[in-house]
Amino acid sequence: MKLVEVKDYAEMSEFAAKEIIKQVHLKSNSVLGLATGGTPTGTYQYLINDFKKSDTSYEEVMTVNLDEYIGLDKKNPQSYDYYMKTNLFEHINVKEENTHLPYAKNIEDQEAGQKYESLIESLGGIDLQILGIGENGHIGFNEPGTSFSSKTGIVELAESTKQANARYFSSIEEVPTHAISMGISTIMKSKEILLLVSGIKKAPILNELMNTDVSEDLPASILKTHPNVTIIADQEALSVYKETKGSVYS
Ligand code: PGA
Repeated sequence: MKLVEVKDYAEMSEFAAKEIIKQVHLKSNSVLGLATGGTPTGTYQYLINDFKKSDTSYEEVMTVNLDEYIGLDKKNPQSYDYYMKTNLFEHINVKEENTHLPYAKNIEDQEAGQKYESLIESLGGIDLQILGIGENGHIGFNEPGTSFSSKTGIVELAESTKQANARYFSSIEEVPTHAISMGISTIMKSKEILLLVSGIKKAPILNELMNTDVSEDLPASILKTHPNVTIIADQEALSVYKETKGSVYS
């Protein structure tokens, strides 16, 4: 894993966006793996601003998202479908039919995962995957304890994840209990991965990630075995790691 230290959230967003833009210029029909949550909104805003003033085109780009809650209508502002439309897709020239999020009708929908796996395969796999990390170390909604060989499927949200995401809902009871998430083995097949980490709340887990062995107790630790991962972390997120290490490698 390569570690890039940036000053703050704005610098992290700019760095990540520039990597995405580079990828799209390199291969106009790139398959981008996208994430939701608080972390990538600045990256998407940078892409939108760049799109307005540059020749970057997303006309041939295809996107696959990491996850989606089960039980929320697509029109629900808390759904990731809604998030992607309002935070990115509606503001660039990506074709709606080229944007994909996993979808499961309900928690018994056993075919939904395989369907999404087949879709990703039919697109030729993910060229560049954007990831955030949960305070508990999850990637996508793959919570601690998830098998590293997991494929896309229905997952139950950890209590800590529901608490972390409750800020977007009027109460924790409204946070869906289940989601459909790209599997860990699916994420690992991406040709390149960017892990975005910002803010003081992520400092303990980033420190753990940097110091721990690869273990299913910390889902993001599998990234250590991937040949092309870059962590883009800001100073707050790196604060605990730097206290223990003294310096940062890059
Ligand atoms: P966040 O979520 O970007 O809202 O911090 C990250 C995650 O849970 O993966």
